[in-house]
Amino acid sequence: MPMILAANANAQGSHVGEWRHPDAWDRPAANLANAVRLAQIAEGGGFDLLFLADGNGVRNMDKPDLFAATSPSDRPGIFEPVTLLAALAMATSRIGLVATTTTTYDEPFHVARRFASLDHISGGRAGWNLVTTSNPGDALNFSHEAHVPRDDRYERAFEFAAVVKGLWDSWADDAFPQDKASGRFLDPARVHALNHHGKHFQVAGPLNAPRPPQGQPVVFSAGQSETGRELSAAMADCVFAIEGTLPRAQALYADLKGRLAKHGRTPDSLKILSGVTIIAGETAEEARRMSDELDALVPDAVALDYLNKMTGLKFKLSMLDQPFPDLDTSEIGPTAIAQAIVARARGEGMTIRQASRAILPQMAGNLFVGSATEVADRMEEWYRGHGCDGFMIAAPVVPTGLERFIRLVVPELRRRGLVRTEYEGTTLRDHLGLPRPANRFFPA
Ligand SMILES: Cc1cc2nc3c(=O)[nH]c(=O)nc-3n(C[C@H](O)[C@H](O)[C@H](O)COP(=O)(O)O)c2cc1C
Repeated sequence: MPMILAANANAQGSHVGEWRHPDAWDRPAANLANAVRLAQIAEGGGFDLLFLADGNGVRNMDKPDLFAATSPSDRPGIFEPVTLLAALAMATSRIGLVATTTTTYDEPFHVARRFASLDHISGGRAGWNLVTTSNPGDALNFSHEAHVPRDDRYERAFEFAAVVKGLWDSWADDAFPQDKASGRFLDPARVHALNHHGKHFQVAGPLNAPRPPQGQPVVFSAGQSETGRELSAAMADCVFAIEGTLPRAQALYADLKGRLAKHGRTPDSLKILSGVTIIAGETAEEARRMSDELDALVPDAVALDYLNKMTGLKFKLSMLDQPFPDLDTSEIGPTAIAQAIVARARGEGMTIRQASRAILPQMAGNLFVGSATEVADRMEEWYRGHGCDGFMIAAPVVPTGLERFIRLVVPELRRRGLVRTEYEGTTLRDHLGLPRPANRFFPA
């Protein structure tokens, strides 16, 4: 199976200073022309899929410097992602289209319906990234007074995913003969009403959409806690993982693949994509110069707000040159991302200023900066070393960072036989080497 290439396709690149860079798009807020162009660039480069992270709230209004400057995971002016992917489906023909939707503040019937529709519209290229919502403030937009506690979110997520998958199998593949001569639009013997009665959901079904072209759209998940990993092993086809070092990525990879057997699954049935920001240059010096240029676009106050946002900590500007403190896990924000940032800052003996600067290009994830050969070497090392099955690639500046990656690094990966040279199938499952599942209610 070749290395999987996914484009993390936010309207802005992955670097906090990105949108101010002279090469970045002008006016990136809710800009459809940009999104179409980015999807076409990624498809032209042979990417397996385009990925949209998402949330349901405006963040950082309590951090005025960062709020005004914004950062890549804030997204105050974007499109609802499934709506956007429906438009991108019409402007592309092969690339997979994956959108994030939360199980905490949505309903399984809505989600099953949206992604079944996207799968039909795109001819079998849809994927759903299941998250339980990272931003506590999103709760306030859905009639909650506070974020649902993590254990409850995950309990709901398991049931939610099971309902969505059941709804996608509502109809047999041949349930809609639409035969003018006989007058039979559909075959009443080929539909299954789910009649789900659970702790969180009561869903009668069936879904009001034919079975998706992929049978089941591809399910991604992003969550790295113990329960998050169990959810991925039980429910997901792909995991979007963030690890800053190869040994940590290898440990996560082995752990996730090792959980599959008890669900009757093979290691191949779950693909692990490692998040990475790639700054590729004609030469290593050029790549490092671009990285420095981007860092210079972020004032200290914005960088510090960003560190506080990512870790849940409350550092002040007067503390910038103090060593990063040794903190108890309970003081650090709950996500794997926050834990990784703190582990790195402590491990490398950083000051608070250095930690705030270190995360500007890539949050807690991985960063590959260098010439095409250097970047391809690192990707090959991670891939062959069982750190991942492929990469969720963010460019520091869009669209030029992605174009550079395609122009400089993709040919080198192809030369090494690590990625395929052209699309071989038509669906996202084809690209990922995932078979089309049989219908659980209408086995062949
Ligand atoms: C790599 C990665 C990407 C994520 N992307 C999103 C996202 O786009 N939107 C969101 O609301 N939450 C996102 N999350 C948050 C998770 O859904 C989850 O709520 C959070 O990580 C806490 O769970 P965990 O402790 O299992 O990691 C992401 C998490 C990870 C690790």
